[in-house]
Amino acid sequence: MPVRIALATTCCLVVAAVLVLGRWRPPSRVPPRAGHSVTPASLSNKDCRDCHPDVWQEWERSGHSKAWANVNVQAAFRFFGYDRKCLSCHAAEPVQWDLSSDQPVSLRQEDRDSGVNCLTCHDLANDLGVAAVRHVAEAPCRPVQTVELSKSRICGACHDAIYDDWQASRYARENKSCQSCHMPTVGEAGRRGHVFLGGHDAATVRSGARMICRQEGDELVVAITNHATGHNFPGERHNRVLLIEVIQREETGKIALSRQTLVKGVTPFRGETTAEQIKAGATFEARFPVVDPPVEADVRLLYRLFPWYTDEQSLEVHRELIPLTAP
Ligand code: HEC
Ligand code: HEC
Ligand code: HEC
Ligand code: HEC
Ligand code: HEC
Repeated sequence: MPVRIALATTCCLVVAAVLVLGRWRPPSRVPPRAGHSVTPASLSNKDCRDCHPDVWQEWERSGHSKAWANVNVQAAFRFFGYDRKCLSCHAAEPVQWDLSSDQPVSLRQEDRDSGVNCLTCHDLANDLGVAAVRHVAEAPCRPVQTVELSKSRICGACHDAIYDDWQASRYARENKSCQSCHMPTVGEAGRRGHVFLGGHDAATVRSGARMICRQEGDELVVAITNHATGHNFPGERHNRVLLIEVIQREETGKIALSRQTLVKGVTPFRGETTAEQIKAGATFEARFPVVDPPVEADVRLLYRLFPWYTDEQSLEVHRELIPLTAP
């Protein structure tokens, strides 16, 4: 039995490795970050907690605080032998230091466990202070008004694929930034929240796409529309799986038809198109036969974070019972 478990684990790791390979970048793109003699900020990441406990708590709940410590990430790193190119985005040096460059972000030497931390997004080069929406002269952390902080580009430093998909969408033309959706305002002062909900949050995934079913003669048409995601749906390219399940039963309850159709499958290698994701504003349609005699269809939209997840581990994004009639 232990052998079987070990085999199964190895299989999973190999699959994971293949998937994760999709993110690997050729060494030529790795920057020598010379010339950045940025003084270590006089404030450490943990110092932010003392004066901004509310923001700190939100960040602790977010994926950003676990971007390094996450067990899936560590398992994948182990598999790749702690390749620097892998590690960079998961414990990056402050991205504000060099936003104009097209180079990927670089790996920091210290405090990696804090993942994508306060300094990663806020620390300005040359110990100038922290990037903020406005100047606050008297504050000890020296907030400096920095327009880049409110722009999508700062997120694109690590979310490169989603940034490209966003740029190709109407949301970029309408100036609807990543922050406007992923940092909803909280509290009376209308401060931007730092929880950064995404694919791991059911409500966020549900809010991104809708499902409409209709019968056309002897066919059942299921339409999935990406009406509210600011980029492709699902957002992440390599691991997410999206499928439609249709079950039709006889009056007796016996299953007459049970079918699953892939909307988005696994895209494990670099350079493939995004054709399998649903682009912003677009609709994916699938057709299923209506069995005779027609009764009712149980239609589900299922979403998997990782391709090896079972139906039980999947998120039921939407579910509808559709009465069917004779054509
Ligand atoms: C000793 C207390 C203290 C520490 C430590 C501190 N801050 Fe501040 N910070 C303040 C105060 C006070 C203000 C101004 C009032 C406010 O907006 O909360 C402020 C304002 C800010 C603002 C601008 C808020 C706005 O209204 O636009 C940002 C951004 C910010 N801090 C980030 C940080 C980060 C990141 C750290 C950690 C590197 C940090 N702060 C550490 C006290 C502190
Ligand atoms: C360009 C930045 C970047 C690089 C380089 C990078 N990652 Fe990531 N990684 C991300 C982002 C961003 C996410 C969050 C999912 C998303 O939106 O794509 C992520 C998610 C993950 C996850 C999924 C975590 C979870 O539980 O959902 C794993 C595992 C992972 N990365 C491992 C790796 C490995 C291994 C490498 C090297 C082959 C790597 N990453 C290189 C940015 C990067
Ligand atoms: C992934 C990037 C990111 C991380 C990590 C991050 N922030 Fe922010 N933060 C932002 C952005 C972007 C804004 C400004 C959004 C806007 O209003 O346009 C912001 C705004 C703020 C503000 C001003 C809030 C307001 O609207 O008045 C404070 C204070 C702040 N951050 C503190 C922190 C602290 C403390 C941490 C760590 C616990 C932290 N941030 C981590 C990106 C980040
Ligand atoms: C330094 C790199 C970096 C920057 C900058 C960054 N992120 Fe992330 N982000 C990550 C990584 C890595 C993860 C995955 C963490 C994990 O799951 O382990 C992540 C996770 C997320 C998630 C959650 C995804 C999920 O599947 O639940 C959202 C949403 C997100 N980021 C949005 C943003 C936005 C919006 C910005 C810009 C304000 C931003 N990020 C800036 C690296 C970054
Ligand atoms: C119009 C609102 C909107 C805008 C603008 C937007 N997003 Fe999203 N984002 C969503 C919704 C809704 C989801 C959940 C659906 C999904 O998982 O694709 C999501 C999901 C995500 C995820 C999780 C993807 C996954 O598979 O886990 C990340 C990371 C993310 N967005 C980052 C970004 C970044 C970076 C930008 C800017 C370049 C951005 N988003 C712009 C609404 C938005």
